[in-house]
Amino acid sequence: MIIAITNQKGGVGKTTTALNVSAALALLGNRILLVDTDPQAHSTLSVLNDPSQHPKSLYDVLMHPDEGLESIVTQSTIPALDIAVSKISMAKLEPSLLGEIDGHYRLKDIIEPIRLRYDHIVIDTPPTLGLITLNSLVAATHILIPIQSSYLCLEGTDDLLETIDKVKKVANPDLRILGILITLHDKRTNISKDVVKRIRKVFGGLAFKTLISKSVKLEESPAYKESIFTYAPHSVGAMQYRKIAEEILKRAKN
Ligand SMILES: Nc1ncnc2c1ncn2[C@@H]1O[C@H](COP(=O)(O)OP(=O)(O)O)[C@@H](O)[C@H]1O
Ligand SMILES: [Mg+2]
Repeated sequence: MIIAITNQKGGVGKTTTALNVSAALALLGNRILLVDTDPQAHSTLSVLNDPSQHPKSLYDVLMHPDEGLESIVTQSTIPALDIAVSKISMAKLEPSLLGEIDGHYRLKDIIEPIRLRYDHIVIDTPPTLGLITLNSLVAATHILIPIQSSYLCLEGTDDLLETIDKVKKVANPDLRILGILITLHDKRTNISKDVVKRIRKVFGGLAFKTLISKSVKLEESPAYKESIFTYAPHSVGAMQYRKIAEEILKRAKN
């Protein structure tokens, strides 16, 4: 699978999910590549001890595909997980690729030659529906949509679903929504319970059975360059992301 973790809203748990789903799949014996496409580079910064040692980033390869994606892929601090490095330079991508006829296909094209080196590839995306996210949706086989358990959580999902439909029609007919993941859930509040009901009503079986609770451990682990599975292996967050990885693998088979 090539799984794009996408939602044009910021702060909904995309990066936390990209990191911990990648780590969980790696723990289950898979070789994983995490491709960080976000100019904010939070995934990259969460799994490299010294990002300054990696002067080149995904931007350079997207602009010069001949250099090969492997030139910016490096081992991360998480076992069996490689990372394709992002930097703030990714913010220049949109203007730089403007008018390039293959502008939406660059990421797909650079992933293709190294795809078979990995069991699965996870793409962390920025909080926009711009060219970077479109590249990610064209390159992906599956999409995982994290939705924050909050009052306005469904605001904007129509735009996202419309974009996915367009990408399917024009460039990637086999693209599948793997599932909707409810994140940052606080079971103590009534609003959270109500939100879960609404999401399950709107998305039915597309919503994963497991949801991700609000947890300080999940917030802390990136600062130590660790996944939740080494930072707090017995925490609720570790249990939940492990279950999500299992649900993902089960859905991928169907
Ligand atoms: N389940 C969670 N519990 C507590 N904090 C979380 C959880 N998921 C994410 N966060 C925190 O919320 C913030 C936004 O999450 P992040 O994964 O970076 O979202 P996005 O990539 O969608 O912007 C980060 O500070 C992150 O550590
Ligand atoms: Mg992020």
